[in-house]
Amino acid sequence: MTELMAATEFYLTHFENYKKEGLKAYAGGDYPRARYALLKASEFLFKLSEKSDGLIRKSRIENANKLLELARKIEHAPAYDGREGAHEAEGEGGESKFAVAEKPEISFDDIAGLEDVKEEIYARVIYPLKFPEKAKKYRMLPGGGILLFGPPGTGKTMIARAIANEVNAPFYTVKPSEIMSKWVGEAEKNIAELFKGARKHKLSVIFIDEIESLIPRRSGSSSSVMQRVVPQILAELEGFDAPKGNPMLFVGATNEPWLLDAAVLRPGRFDELIYIDLPDRKARKRILEINLKGRPLSEDVNLDELADMLEGYSGADIRNVCANTAQEAFLDSVREDVDRSISQADLKKTIKKTRRSVTQRQLKKFEKYLIEH
Ligand SMILES: Nc1ncnc2c1ncn2[C@@H]1O[C@H](COP(=O)(O)OP(=O)(O)OP(=O)(O)O)[C@@H](O)[C@H]1O
Ligand SMILES: [Mg+2]
Repeated sequence: MTELMAATEFYLTHFENYKKEGLKAYAGGDYPRARYALLKASEFLFKLSEKSDGLIRKSRIENANKLLELARKIEHAPAYDGREGAHEAEGEGGESKFAVAEKPEISFDDIAGLEDVKEEIYARVIYPLKFPEKAKKYRMLPGGGILLFGPPGTGKTMIARAIANEVNAPFYTVKPSEIMSKWVGEAEKNIAELFKGARKHKLSVIFIDEIESLIPRRSGSSSSVMQRVVPQILAELEGFDAPKGNPMLFVGATNEPWLLDAAVLRPGRFDELIYIDLPDRKARKRILEINLKGRPLSEDVNLDELADMLEGYSGADIRNVCANTAQEAFLDSVREDVDRSISQADLKKTIKKTRRSVTQRQLKKFEKYLIEH
């Protein structure tokens, strides 16, 4: 590794760690810590900018200034009572079986792109808790229903896990299989319990992954459980846009939205349908960066070129390309007992061997769905 690369790596790691710590502290209301960490993050980013040039340098300086500004703003932020956390004691009754026990280690920073989803989450649950007066002034009703849909491997499940980490509110995650099979015959009771438990909190988040199996088109489902469960969930979701009790954010994810019962898309239930597309060039580059970080890289590695080659690949595909290339280099290093870094040629070779997991036909199906909804 050259001296420049070593320095860059050092600053980058510190910058990322401080930024993460700062934003987390900020979200959690620990302003003194947030201010300190963000100042440090900004300092390291300025240092990083000195090691780069061109557009990267410019964008690093800009971002460092933004962090500085944020740190200054925090100086005047009110103390926030962060007691309503995800770890708070659960109410009585069986609701704990749906709650997330531990916050996952994943944050918005680990997710490339998907800025519109992140913004929705900020507007609907993070800021309303943090700035209740402002939310009232602008008549922003927190919570609501968001449906994330798109091809496989694009980060839908990942973003939901990150929400659990970023949002300072109780987070419930439910697998349809849990509701349907673990407590056979109790499906309706489970659903009622889930919503009742969640509504006890000032603001809460419920996430249901693979939601098409919980709310399938009724005509296509012969199961009598479904005939009762679907209307019940629909009733729980009713009036999400004008909550009477405590508000909650309901997030559903699916890669087959056309299998959903059409009634779920009526206004007042999911009020926001967000299409999670394959990553664009910038996001592909970021996914490469995230997945190659900390691995020994040759100096010739050129992420821009790789990002171009990876057009049409999903985030999961790109993660696999990186992991498989690293594995090859690792095996070589073991077999030949020499440390060797991952080169541009290695990465290109793996890309050529790897197929896009999302087909044109699947994409067409989404396009059609988007036009119709
Ligand atoms: N935008 C992204 N940023 C960073 N990593 C990503 C992104 N999208 C996908 N990945 C990588 O792909 C993996 C799989 O993503 P995830 O499970 O969230 O996909 P999904 O959209 O839920 O797929 P499915 O529809 O099959 O459930 C992630 O763990 C991550 O490593
Ligand atoms: Mg998923």
